Amino acid sequence: MIERTKILMIEDNKLMAKNLRDVLETVQGGMDIAWEPDPAQGLRYLAAKPVDIVLLDLILPDSQGLETFTKISLLSPSVPIIVMTGVDDETVAVSAVRSGAQDYIVKGQVDGQVLVKSIRYAIERKRIEEDLRKARSDLEYKVQERTEELIDINENLQKEIDERRKAEEALKVAYEQLKLAQSQLVYSEKMETVGRLASGVAHEVKNPLAILLQCVEYLQRNLSKDNEKITRTLEFMSEAVMRADSIIKGMLDFSSVSQMELSDQGPVELIENALLFIKHEIDLHHINLEKAYAPDLPAIKVDKNRIEHVFLNILMNAIDAMGDNGKITIRIKSRVLDNVGDGAGRRGADTFKLGDRVVIFEFEDNGPGIPESILEKVFDPFFTTKHDKGGTGLGLSIIKNIMEMHHGRITLKNREQGGVIATLTFRA
Ligand SMILES: Nc1ncnc2c1ncn2[C@@H]1O[C@H](COP(=O)(O)OP(=O)(O)OP(=O)(O)O)[C@@H](O)[C@H]1O
Ligand SMILES: [Mg+2]
Repeated sequence: MIERTKILMIEDNKLMAKNLRDVLETVQGGMDIAWEPDPAQGLRYLAAKPVDIVLLDLILPDSQGLETFTKISLLSPSVPIIVMTGVDDETVAVSAVRSGAQDYIVKGQVDGQVLVKSIRYAIERKRIEEDLRKARSDLEYKVQERTEELIDINENLQKEIDERRKAEEALKVAYEQLKLAQSQLVYSEKMETVGRLASGVAHEVKNPLAILLQCVEYLQRNLSKDNEKITRTLEFMSEAVMRADSIIKGMLDFSSVSQMELSDQGPVELIENALLFIKHEIDLHHINLEKAYAPDLPAIKVDKNRIEHVFLNILMNAIDAMGDNGKITIRIKSRVLDNVGDGAGRRGADTFKLGDRVVIFEFEDNGPGIPESILEKVFDPFFTTKHDKGGTGLGLSIIKNIMEMHHGRITLKNREQGGVIATLTFRA
């Protein structure tokens, strides 16, 4: 069964309304035409009953131009509206069309056929518009839904990335700690082995070496001095034995077999005394020596011979690295440790504690510095880059050992402008 078209006509002129109804009914059957004489009643009707189209008189007495039109389209947005207007009022009708009215007709010029056609088209257009609007809002809804899903996915992904990054960082830190712990373990194991070996071997080898040296000296005294080859050979032998002896001596120092003899020493006296031993080397290589000693330095409790040995080794390393015309600056200062960055901690095992007064010796040279790749190895026993110049590689490892025996600390750092700063810290 074909649905009848339900038309609501809002028109204050009863005669006009009747005319329109007549026109419509003669042209086309199947239309239910309701008539309301003013906008208020028209709106009430619309709210109560479904209609297919509204014919609205735009020059109703109490309607303010488009106002009624707007009210109707708000109340029933899916119902098409055809506005009716007087001959001189087409502009209002046009703006109604712009605001969404499907069509307009000029009263008095209404042709029945045209009006019916206009009604049919208006209903059809509105239906299509509605379908389109619905499809668009469905689409928008879907897009919105998908966008939210994507935002969710993105957020989860970001969270996952953040968590992974954190885990990775934690892993890196743990790995670094493990590496450090491992290298410390390897180092202390090495030291222990070297220490044990050193004292054993050194004692065994020291005596035969002394005998060898005596024999060489005997031969030097008694063999013909005219034979240059023999003289050179004996010199080589003597040098080789001395070198072996210095290694043995180093190993004995390293294994610290001899007892520590601690006494209070003034830092300046200590360093000045050590400098007397090395004056010759400093002059020979034209080293520019600068000193910066803070006044009123507290005394430190040290084994004088061992600490002088430490100073000499550090100074010799600097001279070896710089060659001639280098510059060494020696600084001595004292202060109270007030931050953990100083290597001071709160644990019993830490070398220094916050609040400790320390004396600091700095030896700064302007040589080439220590390549990063070997910086970690320089304290290893027998590590040397001076094989050809007779380096034993025991210097720094002995120094480190001696510093540990004094509960002090040594650090070597490259300067930005080249050269090395060796820092020795003692508790005052
Ligand atoms: N001030 C410095 N400048 C540059 N390199 C240095 C410095 N001090 C130490 N080194 C490097 O550290 C290495 C190890 O030093 P260490 O004192 O332990 O042994 P060595 O000096 O080679 O041998 P020895 O002490 O028996 O003469 C040196 O061979 C050198 O490469
Ligand atoms: Mg050395």
